[in-house]
Amino acid sequence: MTITGKTRVCGVIGEPIEHTLSPIMHNAAFQALNLDYIFLAFRVKPAGVESAVDGMRALNIRGLNVTMPHKSTIIKHLDRVDLSAQIINSVNTILNKENLLFGFNTDGIGALKALKENGVELKGRKVLLLGAGGAARAIAYAMAKEADELAILNRTVKQAQVLAKLLEKSFNKKIAAGSLSPSDIQSNIRDSDILINATSVGMKPKADESPVAPKLFRSNLAIMDIVYNPLETKLSKEAKAAGAKVVSGVEMLIYQGAASFEIWTGKSAPVGVMRQAALDHLQKV
Ligand code: ATR
Repeated sequence: MTITGKTRVCGVIGEPIEHTLSPIMHNAAFQALNLDYIFLAFRVKPAGVESAVDGMRALNIRGLNVTMPHKSTIIKHLDRVDLSAQIINSVNTILNKENLLFGFNTDGIGALKALKENGVELKGRKVLLLGAGGAARAIAYAMAKEADELAILNRTVKQAQVLAKLLEKSFNKKIAAGSLSPSDIQSNIRDSDILINATSVGMKPKADESPVAPKLFRSNLAIMDIVYNPLETKLSKEAKAAGAKVVSGVEMLIYQGAASFEIWTGKSAPVGVMRQAALDHLQKV
């Protein structure tokens, strides 16, 4: 890779940021398409968000991914924000177009594509979503739009209820909300076609946990666990053992990254290259 005076800069801001896979995926993609771009990770503290946005303008940084804890607080510093990102109050991608900053959220598109590209259709289906945090909000928006029915269960029930009400208003669809209690999970999983875990349960170092009892899995239930550390979670293993179709969380990561890449470069993302780079890195660490 040759860095020149014309090289365009993209990056990701967040705190912590050291474990991000975005530089790995995006630099591999830029190289594969021979694009004169580079991608870097910047550790930005909550108090530094406004300065980071000013810096993006001043340094003519082409694009940024935004991760925890800035996805909501960054919104007020942008010039235009996509409607879906406004509704879920979360931006994970910024495009700098002639010094105007446009905000988007590609997490929902990422989840949708991860399912569709792996053969899981949403039309006419019921989705059961576990979680109502940052990632879950973006996924819930996409599922409310594409699937026929949606139920949202969360440890903090109030948060699931607020999210369900917000999406009911946007999509004019009835959306159920509940807790992560065994009885709420059991009653909702029964008539669901797709289960998505968007809680952090099962993430290292607590990889021996799962939000769902294994006896509830069945072969005609598709599963996506957005946790990708470990690569195969307890939930994924148990669902697979019951014959369920399982989509890895890495897929959502790749497709959200691919959507950001396309926003910045206007080119079709080399998804296979991004997947390989992410998997190689995850297997190393
Ligand atoms: P992210 O940006 O990854 O979505 P987040 O916004 O902090 O992170 O959301 C984490 C999600 O995991 C939330 O739904 C959270 O539930 P609460 O809203 O009740 O906090 C859920 N979560 C985290 N730890 C959990 C645990 N031990 N049991 C159940 N749910 C948990």
